[in-house]
Amino acid sequence: MHRIACVVGTRPEAIKMAPLVRLLKEDGRFAVTVLASGQHSDMLQQALAHFRIAADVNLNVMRERQTLDHVTSAVLLGVGAFLDGSPQDMLLVHGDTTTTLGAAMAGFYRGVPVGHVEAGLRSHNMALPFPEEANRVLADRLASLFFAPTPGDAENLRREGAPEERIFVTGNTVIDALLWTLGNLGRAEVLDGVPEDGPLVLMTAHRRESWGEPLARICRGVAALVEAHPEVRVLVPLHKNPAVREVVRRELGGFSRVILTEPLSYPDFVSVMNRSLFIVSDSGGIQEEASALRKPVLILRDLSERPEAIASGTGVLVGTDPEAILRESLRLLEDPDYRGTFLKRGMPFGDGRASERIRDILLDYLDSLAGGIGG
Ligand code: UD1
Ligand code: UDP
Repeated sequence: MHRIACVVGTRPEAIKMAPLVRLLKEDGRFAVTVLASGQHSDMLQQALAHFRIAADVNLNVMRERQTLDHVTSAVLLGVGAFLDGSPQDMLLVHGDTTTTLGAAMAGFYRGVPVGHVEAGLRSHNMALPFPEEANRVLADRLASLFFAPTPGDAENLRREGAPEERIFVTGNTVIDALLWTLGNLGRAEVLDGVPEDGPLVLMTAHRRESWGEPLARICRGVAALVEAHPEVRVLVPLHKNPAVREVVRRELGGFSRVILTEPLSYPDFVSVMNRSLFIVSDSGGIQEEASALRKPVLILRDLSERPEAIASGTGVLVGTDPEAILRESLRLLEDPDYRGTFLKRGMPFGDGRASERIRDILLDYLDSLAGGIGG
């Protein structure tokens, strides 16, 4: 049996690792440990619970208003101690969070091969998104296997010198998670208060580089939209981060057609994405999901490490400029022909079989290591 630890720290890591964890756990050839850093507490649990996954180990590193130094060092120490006590043949990390980087370092220090799921994404600007671009660049320097969602991501890895035979284009596992969830949707209570025929917009925002004034500007764009359009409702599931909540509540709390909620369970969130006319978000995962659902997304960033969402997909960059948010939102609300063009756009992030591909590659690699061929 191949011993493999799957690391998750935050909500998106849980959602995107879940389909792979489920496949590996069903397969008798792997001994799987789900290793939660606990960088997120309730948001991580909420996401894991939907996929009926329980963490085998939880480092519980989260602190109120935690610093990057705290998360990095606590994850490095915690994952290191776990590996010392429970030796592994492989450590799987996902994406670009501080958990990803800390865990990759702990594996690297012990010579445990690190597999990076969602490898190769690049904005090519270390400050945007911060600190995620640095996290994924550094994690890829430390990794041995690269699961790139798209050909463009694989090309980024080649340019940085990652060995060709270790780079695999698999699609993004978020599409696996989304398709699985679309078959398991319940009734989303949060939609009970939304008139069935009225236009609904979904908004999320949490990026570190937007804390403070940029986030306030985003909210002012949304407030202007509600004032300009007599019927539109905007649903905002608030991220748990107090630095985000304070600003959004201050700027949008007084509008009767803005609905502020706690984070939604993944199936409820998918139902709301489906029900919305379009989405306004700075999230990475939502850009990918929206492309599969053919929903327009106004991306609250100045650049994206997911160029596919813009080139052939459903994303439109608006940054944090209130006027751009208002202009593009009104265009989407008032021009059904324009909205219709999004239904014809591509789905560049995968076909729902990324996890199967990754499982097969892991097996080949670990079999070859056990046979003394790999390394
Ligand atoms: C983190 C990731 C970001 C990812 C995002 C997904 C880093 C540096 N940031 O950002 O890449 O896109 O998660 O959501 O890795 N909190 C709670 N309960 C929770 C989760 C968070 O109370 O379940 C609060 C805590 O006060 C915590 C704060 O939010 O200190 C910030 O959490 P943190 O993980 O540091 O940053 P995020 O903004 O969530
Ligand atoms: N999501 C969720 N509930 C919510 C908001 C988001 O389940 O209330 C899901 C969303 O569908 C996507 C992921 O969480 O899969 C995105 O998480 P987040 O925006 O926190 O992180 P990012 O993708 O920006 O790293």
